[in-house]
Amino acid sequence: MDLIAVFGLGHIGLPTAALFAKAGFKVIGVDINPDIVNSINQGISPIIEPGLDELLVEVVKKGKLKATDDGEYAARKANIMIIVVPTPLGADKSSDLSAVISASRTISKGLKRGDLVIVESTVPPTTCEKIILPILEESGLKVSEDFGLVYTPERALPNNTLYEMTNNARVIGSIDEESAERAAALYDKITRGEIVKVKDIVTAEMVKLMENTYRDTNIALANELAIICESLGIDAIDAIKAANYHPRVNLHIPGPGVGGHCLSIDPYFIVEMAEARGVPARLIRTARQINEEMPYHVLQLIKDALNDTGVNIGDSNIGILGVAYKGNVADTRETPSKPLIDALLQEGAHVVVHDPYVKKEIIKAMGAEPVTLKEALRCDCTVLMTDHDEYRSIEPNMIQGKVFICARPILQPEKFKKKGIIFRGVGRP
Ligand SMILES: NC(=O)c1ccc[n+]([C@@H]2O[C@H](COP(=O)([O-])OP(=O)(O)OC[C@H]3O[C@@H](n4cnc5c(N)ncnc54)[C@H](O)[C@@H]3O)[C@@H](O)[C@H]2O)c1
Repeated sequence: MDLIAVFGLGHIGLPTAALFAKAGFKVIGVDINPDIVNSINQGISPIIEPGLDELLVEVVKKGKLKATDDGEYAARKANIMIIVVPTPLGADKSSDLSAVISASRTISKGLKRGDLVIVESTVPPTTCEKIILPILEESGLKVSEDFGLVYTPERALPNNTLYEMTNNARVIGSIDEESAERAAALYDKITRGEIVKVKDIVTAEMVKLMENTYRDTNIALANELAIICESLGIDAIDAIKAANYHPRVNLHIPGPGVGGHCLSIDPYFIVEMAEARGVPARLIRTARQINEEMPYHVLQLIKDALNDTGVNIGDSNIGILGVAYKGNVADTRETPSKPLIDALLQEGAHVVVHDPYVKKEIIKAMGAEPVTLKEALRCDCTVLMTDHDEYRSIEPNMIQGKVFICARPILQPEKFKKKGIIFRGVGRP
């Protein structure tokens, strides 16, 4: 049976490694962070993901999954190497492929005849063939003749990762048919989802980016419509619900912006590649801009509402509900709450934060004070930024301040307005 090495034991790499181990493979997990390696070897998951703790204990106890920070050792031992390292944006919004390059170099040092290298990290189109492949061939081996290369994007949704990894369809693009067959047989061991083979690697790279760009662009459309509705005094949420009765319409839900490691980053990978080829990616770029401006629209809602109560934002206490980028997760990467907090602090406001999932140190690092929900609801203005389930049961009598800004449409405005609370929201009149 193949021995698998998974490079990068984060939100995607660790569940992937654990699922292959559960399927009976021997798996070596590689991470450059020794704390992550130690934690995994003790059977403790460094990330919060339903079901992962139990799965990890089981596969680590059975000796099926072992973590190490020695990537070269893992590459020498394994015959299938999976790259799932981070691919963030640099300061100039271009892709930062340093982790992918570094993992590829490590793999190249241990690459052997008969090995298969699989890339799961989200990358700009052509990265596998133009950047990763030449590094792997520094080993002296030739692709197709000596080793295989595959790109297969990951679509799992945080908080439902294990279910999605074992049920979602999997797209496979490869350098040759043999690599595709081998990867298809491999993923077939962990997923009931359909295996969809596309023509080549670059198509598979593009598929992943197209999926997230579709979602980001549609959220931008919903956000733009929401702001227009606000100016017309229309409830955008009601209007969107009604519009979605049209059998071919599926308007998305407006909100305070788009966070996370995928939607807010991946469209830029398309923009980067398109513009390098002289093709403007106008719609995709504009959609990003609209979504990135949403936290400042929320800031304006706060300012206007405080103004109506005669409170100056610079003298105000603001309570933020939620700094995770989406509901019921602890992930704060690219969260729209961060630019909002920065802007509020810049305005001189005192900012406190409640988030039932996010560690206090992370909140403090954002320049805000972590508080209880009760304390956050006592501020001059409370701003709901994340649709955590806990916030769905907020009642008017829990709010001690005058202003409540609901940037996610999870509460009914009328109920709050009736009680004299100034209630505003994205897309709410
Ligand atoms: N999180 C998601 O929901 C999601 C979904 C689909 C695709 N992806 C893509 O998957 C990739 C990984 O994302 P993630 O969310 O798991 O990232 P993550 O930050 O949670 O984890 C990445 C891990 O890789 C480790 N690492 C960094 N450089 C390394 C190296 N050279 N060798 C070995 N380990 C290294 C880090 O220490 C970290 O533990 C990214 O390209 C991302 O875009 C993520």
